[in-house]
Amino acid sequence: MISKRIACIGAGYVGGPTMAVIAMKCPQYKVNVVDVSEARIKAWQTDNLPIFEPGLLDVVRAARGRNLFFSTEISAAIRESEVIFVSVNTPTKTFGEGAGKAADLQYWEKVAREILRESGSSKIVVEKSTLPVKTAQTMENILNANGKKVHFEVISNPEFLAEGTAVKDLLEPDRVLIGSRETPQGFAARQEIVDIYANWVPKDRILTSNVWSAELSKLVANAFLAQRISSINSISALCEKTDASVQEVARAVGMDSRIGSRFLNASVGFGGSCFKKDILNLVYICESYGLQEAARYWESVLAMNEFQETRFVRTIIREMFNTIVGKRIALFGFAFKADTSDTRESPSIYVARKLLEERAFVAVTDPKALDNARIDLAGYKENLDFVEDPYEAAKGAHAVAIMTEWAMYRSLDWENIYRSMEKPAFLFDGRNVLNHEQLYNLGFNVYPLGRPPLKHF
Ligand code: NAD
Ligand code: UGA
Repeated sequence: MISKRIACIGAGYVGGPTMAVIAMKCPQYKVNVVDVSEARIKAWQTDNLPIFEPGLLDVVRAARGRNLFFSTEISAAIRESEVIFVSVNTPTKTFGEGAGKAADLQYWEKVAREILRESGSSKIVVEKSTLPVKTAQTMENILNANGKKVHFEVISNPEFLAEGTAVKDLLEPDRVLIGSRETPQGFAARQEIVDIYANWVPKDRILTSNVWSAELSKLVANAFLAQRISSINSISALCEKTDASVQEVARAVGMDSRIGSRFLNASVGFGGSCFKKDILNLVYICESYGLQEAARYWESVLAMNEFQETRFVRTIIREMFNTIVGKRIALFGFAFKADTSDTRESPSIYVARKLLEERAFVAVTDPKALDNARIDLAGYKENLDFVEDPYEAAKGAHAVAIMTEWAMYRSLDWENIYRSMEKPAFLFDGRNVLNHEQLYNLGFNVYPLGRPPLKHF
């Protein structure tokens, strides 16, 4: 017996996994996931899912065809559902007012108008996408400007899952945040959404708030996480100058329970579709309220990330005798983090481009992200190779640069790799995942992040 009909518009990294978990955990609901992209929907209907996410296929299989459906029938899904989650993309605006900072809300607004056009009964519209604070107001204005006598309640239910751990994050979330208007109708809609999650999330982890706090909390959570990475990355630069080790510093600092140990791994830079976009969005909102100092503060988190990427490339060029023309450099990893095929805003894109501009020969290897890497580097025709096998990528290379912390890179036969490379062989560990002393003893010149290099000359 179906007790609730849920639609989700947008079958991407958020919509697909989130709805699959809701459907698996709540067999009493019918969940329709819809998207304009036929290719994506077709892939969701097969076992070759459009995104790689550990454990996701099992969840999808548990519910697909039972109470979980993927289709391009957007209008029908809207018509038959009482609750509509919207998880379409909200990229940074590339044109006009606020270009390069503000969120581009065209997809969201298009969906709002579609919901309005198709709805013959009142609905709860749930913001699942990450949106600027106060977007719910705009949505309400559009949705409730109708002569249909149907009412729309807009709820903010931002998603906190991280790629690579999406299924675990959805099954055991730190918290679920549900924001609504503080009116009788708002409270009733809030409760409906609480009831969905209460099927598997402990009650004390379901937080409720006003709708603006919920919208803003999502941007702030991402900004804080990114800020920690930029903070430790800034210290990695200082460690390299002072013979300190950034890993030792992070450990000592992170053991203070007021600070905590997570998100203190120095890296070549943070990537992913959201940190940069959401901070730019926060900066734009601060600016639009005249809060210039707050805007500059958050902007510096991004400036530090760019510095870290630039620094990484500069180190490669400087240490390889100030020229990399014609030298083969193998990039190990192209995904923005391990366990995902996603390469959006991956630091590898920046690094690969810079190396190619310096006329190096770049060999890219990655266990899951080569298709996306090919798209990201489509503008470059020469001096570029994509290789499945890391051993092949490293063969004849002057340098290997670790770009993604894939676990498999730790257990490679590095002696074999060393033997197959040009000498002197360089290793730049942009993720600090390898055993640097061991590699040095094999003959590599090793450049960890946030530690002085181990060089043979
Ligand atoms: P995505 O690009 O993977 O998916 C968005 C989907 O929406 C696409 O498949 C696209 O075809 C579809 N779409 C766009 N316009 C549409 C329309 N008018 N009708 C139907 N479908 C439409 O994006 P994503 O990574 O899933 O992110 C979605 C939102 O969630 C963003 O706001 C993002 O900031 C936020 N978010 C993402 C993550 C993440 O890990 N990727 C985590 C938390 C929050
Ligand atoms: C991030 C947040 O962690 C999620 O909570 C949020 O929902 C999501 O953004 C979103 O809004 O899209 P995600 O980008 O998938 O998730 O991945 P993270 O694990 O946060 O990593 C982001 C980047 O930071 C990666 O490039 C990662 O390698 C890097 N990172 C992470 C570091 O360089 N150091 C660290 O200590 C941690």
